[in-house]
Amino acid sequence: MTTRILPTDEPDTFKAAVAEAARLLNAGDVVALPTETVYGLAANALNATAVAKIFEAKERPSFDPLIVHLPHRKDLRDVAEVPEDIAKVIDDLTHKFWPGPLTIILPKKPAVPDLVTAGMNTVAVRVSADPVFMRVCRTVEKPLAAPSANRFGSISPTSALAVKAELDGRIPLILDSGASSHGVESTIIKVEPGSPKPIISILRPGPITPDDLKPFGTVKHAFKKKDKDDSAPLEAPGTLASHYAPRTPLRLLSKPEDFTPEPGKRYALLSYRGEPDDGYLELADWVGIHILSPGKGKIIECATRLFYAMRELDKLGADEIVAEPVSEQGVGMAVMDRLRRASAKC
Ligand code: TXA
Ligand code: MG
Repeated sequence: MTTRILPTDEPDTFKAAVAEAARLLNAGDVVALPTETVYGLAANALNATAVAKIFEAKERPSFDPLIVHLPHRKDLRDVAEVPEDIAKVIDDLTHKFWPGPLTIILPKKPAVPDLVTAGMNTVAVRVSADPVFMRVCRTVEKPLAAPSANRFGSISPTSALAVKAELDGRIPLILDSGASSHGVESTIIKVEPGSPKPIISILRPGPITPDDLKPFGTVKHAFKKKDKDDSAPLEAPGTLASHYAPRTPLRLLSKPEDFTPEPGKRYALLSYRGEPDDGYLELADWVGIHILSPGKGKIIECATRLFYAMRELDKLGADEIVAEPVSEQGVGMAVMDRLRRASAKC
């Protein structure tokens, strides 16, 4: 199969690309689409045969459920039950954050095939804010199941070329709208009734931060903080410790003193802000350095560049990628989460 990439920058290319993506999706095929977080591999969520093609292309095990993207916020009850005791907070959260990078786990409706939810009785739902994704989803007028458009266990793609590197020859079409704006996957939450406030558990940290969620309830962190900690419960089945990993082993440092290069080994550096005073630049004779946010260390910029930098460093043929820690402020918690998971293979 030849994988085509269609641009979406001009009004006419946008229109043609959306029409072609909608045609394929309506025919039960898969299409890689940009979202505001990372690129996703989409299929009609209500068509099990189409969804099976996602698992096949990604080599994703069937125990790992997919996120369902709705055309509109009002479509929520087509795919999910909203229990009465959390209806108000779900309404408030979706009003505030949809369309946007917030995924909510809710009891599923029978219309959603078991393959989408890996046989679980819950479904993960969001509405993407990306103009291309949104237009395709609203043209098809169906919920779209879309995991990140990478091979299972690999780094999520944040550009059309990264999707091609992962899935070339396995999917018919990629729509290209340039680099993803957030660069890390959506925040995943579960909501339970609580007194005095509902309990919002973060299963995967992302662009919507604990501070963003605080006005809506008591926020709990239900994701693994430490690498290699296999005792913690696995609430989002796909958030395995060794996710988001480059092929080159990645070592995440806490401080420069933690690292002594071994003679004869080639190391690449993933630097937070490229600041000599931080003490990492001189640690080794790096074969390559990628700086996430030169100078100031703006955490939003780190998130945007993280997966691109990991992909580029992975191409250098180094024995190991050494990563500096970044600030855990705001989306920094998601960046550190991805770095911890990437390093869990070491
Ligand atoms: O930003 C994103 O969320 C991107 C874009 C494409 O929307 N999608 C994405 O999908 O990251 P994926 O499949 O790579 O990650 C979805 C995560 C997995 O960890 C999966 O286990 C979890 O969501 N998940 C899906 N359904 C779930 C459910 N019912 N309960 C708990 N976790 C669920
Ligand atoms: Mg993924």
